[in-house]
Amino acid sequence: MSILATNVGFQYPGAGRWTLKDINLKVEPGEVVNIVGRNGTGKTTLLKLLAGIHPPTKGKIETRGRVAYMDQSASEMMSPGLTIAEQLKVAGDGQKLTDQLRRFEVGLDTRLTEFMGHLSGGQRQIVALLCTLISAKTLCLDEFASALDPRSASVAHAILSDAVALEDVAIVFVAHGSDWFEKFRIHQL
Ligand SMILES: Nc1ncnc2c1ncn2[C@@H]1O[C@H](COP(=O)(O)OP(=O)(O)OP(=O)(O)O)[C@@H](O)[C@H]1O
Ligand SMILES: [Mg+2]
Repeated sequence: MSILATNVGFQYPGAGRWTLKDINLKVEPGEVVNIVGRNGTGKTTLLKLLAGIHPPTKGKIETRGRVAYMDQSASEMMSPGLTIAEQLKVAGDGQKLTDQLRRFEVGLDTRLTEFMGHLSGGQRQIVALLCTLISAKTLCLDEFASALDPRSASVAHAILSDAVALEDVAIVFVAHGSDWFEKFRIHQL
């Protein structure tokens, strides 16, 4: 098991109402789950709970090892003052990540001395996704491809599919608007 959430409920402090109620979710290694629901139904909140960013108010969340979380703007784990190369090194295997950057064909692999803070939204999302992917075997990805163009999005999907199939990575994600998402198990909020 990668993630096991049992009867989970959550209230934001002082909110006085349940944002999440009775969530039961099991994710095995090599499994991908798409969290769907309307705006404000608690998708982001659920991912943050699964990643240990907020403790559940009720119930229990068990995980196997570290869970990595990527937020939509890719800002929480990125340091604008680091160069791309430094950011990749902080995340792990800089060479492997540089090779993966090349697959996107947006020049990031040749601009390694530029500061993260100077990248476009989509470029930052690409670096953040690869850094998240290398940092753990269980990933919570919130709108991870929202700023990617269609070609970059399909490279991202291919890299994630490989990680799931070859390395038993488990992914829980929120995203809209791509055929790639439709083949995965859906958890409706
Ligand atoms: N820090 C907070 N304090 C109080 N309430 C919050 C806080 N963050 C979010 N909420 C509330 O919790 C509910 C769920 O928010 P969440 O961000 O998880 O929704 P979401 O499903 O990700 O929505 P979207 O599709 O718009 O991204 C919303 O009603 C929101 O107003
Ligand atoms: Mg959200």
